[in-house]
Amino acid sequence: MGLKIGNLSKAFAAPVLRAVDIQIASGEIRGLVGENGAGKSTLLNILSGAIRADGGEILLDDEAYKPASVRAALDAGVALATQELSMIETLSAAENLALSRFPSRFGIVRRRHRDTVAKAAFASLGLSHLPPSLLASDMTLADQQLLEIARASMHGTKVLMLDEPTAALSREQAGLVHDLIRAKAAEGAAILYVSHRLEDLKQVCDTISVLRDGELILTKPSEALSIPAMIEAMAGTFAQRDRRAAARGEGPAALRVTDVTTAELPHPLSIEVKAGEVVGLAGLAGAGRSELMRAIMGLDARSGGRCERLVDGIATAVTTPADAVAAGIGYVPEDRKMSGIFAGQSVAFNLSLSALRGRRATPDSWIRERGAAIRDILKIRSSGLDQPIEQLSGGNQQKVILGRWLMLDTPVLLLDEPGRGVDVAAKADIFDEISRLAAAGAAVLMASSEMDELTSTCDRIAVMSGRRIAAIFEGPEWDEAAIMTAAFSAHVGGSAAGNEATRAGVYHD
Ligand SMILES: Nc1ncnc2c1ncn2[C@@H]1O[C@H](COP(=O)(O)OP(=O)(O)OP(=O)(O)O)[C@@H](O)[C@H]1O
Ligand SMILES: [Mg+2]
Repeated sequence: MGLKIGNLSKAFAAPVLRAVDIQIASGEIRGLVGENGAGKSTLLNILSGAIRADGGEILLDDEAYKPASVRAALDAGVALATQELSMIETLSAAENLALSRFPSRFGIVRRRHRDTVAKAAFASLGLSHLPPSLLASDMTLADQQLLEIARASMHGTKVLMLDEPTAALSREQAGLVHDLIRAKAAEGAAILYVSHRLEDLKQVCDTISVLRDGELILTKPSEALSIPAMIEAMAGTFAQRDRRAAARGEGPAALRVTDVTTAELPHPLSIEVKAGEVVGLAGLAGAGRSELMRAIMGLDARSGGRCERLVDGIATAVTTPADAVAAGIGYVPEDRKMSGIFAGQSVAFNLSLSALRGRRATPDSWIRERGAAIRDILKIRSSGLDQPIEQLSGGNQQKVILGRWLMLDTPVLLLDEPGRGVDVAAKADIFDEISRLAAAGAAVLMASSEMDELTSTCDRIAVMSGRRIAAIFEGPEWDEAAIMTAAFSAHVGGSAAGNEATRAGVYHD
């Protein structure tokens, strides 16, 4: 019993899956890893009925399985929680959950049934706080992702597939997803779990398969596959990297935030970033890191304080997003899907967006030359600069949005989770590039939930907890335990601040 995939192939312009053989037994949790563009999502999309394979054979419980549509796959008990969220923003949580399954008789979905099912599904994923009537557009990114997984888990009775389900989630939320995966496997579902978080896979999965350039390289029990071996199989080679750039000199202040408050950030926050340094923002989900960046950019209205961009000691106030961009502040938000992929446009166009802004004429030759360099640096996998962006894999789309700000030597960069959704090798390149930019004089403020991303790249780390800056640490030696303690500081002791932070952790990403 289970899923047997034989000789599966798929090509778009070039081959994406090459004669892939995979067998997953009922009750087995299989991890699937590979670099950005290796073909993971394509494989899952074929199984989910979203796209058709070119060749090969799939057996589900020993019967031929060739879904003609997502609907047909769901009816067969095969479901996918996608990397790109598929919520409909104007529908409620319950409606989104019901969408794929409960056909409406005479066009009316039976509301009571729908809400009961919704409540149960929410509870299983720690989403009890989510009212079924809440609109998807009013949900946090993390809650939307959990809802996506809840929906898939309802339908994935035989095969449940998850495409980077935890990329936008906190540790605790990821733990809930892992509990759900284990429960579904115990009920007899075959699980296919794609993630770039290799440690998570090692913990949760029984077996792990590595896909490289559309080819299945190996499948091994998790205990028998070390993380370096996984990376080596993904990349074909493995070079130990020293990501820490040469010591960077301390420049003058480039960005100064003084006593800023917003509706989301009730306690005045101050922080300074110097030219030539990378300042990290650590903290748990809901600590206020993204909100601080939005406040600096003027995206959330400030109720107090000020932000200044300093050039040679001369300060310019930054109040609106237009001020920020004009002052040379680039911002890569956390939720890159929502923010600025221009579908239908080429990679070159999408890379050039920030460069075009504020310039009357940017020569095409410059865009192409610099774009090609950025494409190399970030290892953006596309057929060329002219490929439409929506044809790139999820991780490669993210690299383009990051690359947009690297096109210009933007003097101040605010990067919210720059490593999210990106494979290990590309991640190293991205953080190398961030280090290089700082060494060349850029001031970088970077939020990350991954300790090693922060400690490998930052000169200083500000730890946020309960929407305050709890502590600031100086590198290059890091006391990770102290950083973690600071991150939890608002959550211990049961003080009023602690309760507030805990609540924030539940409701906000
Ligand atoms: N509609 C399409 N047209 C052309 N090429 C496509 C299309 N969809 C995917 N591809 C290509 O197929 C390859 C595999 O993409 P896929 O999305 O499966 O990668 P992935 O392993 O999921 O990567 P990631 O880790 O970045 O999500 C990529 O090179 C991508 O550009
Ligand atoms: Mg993918």
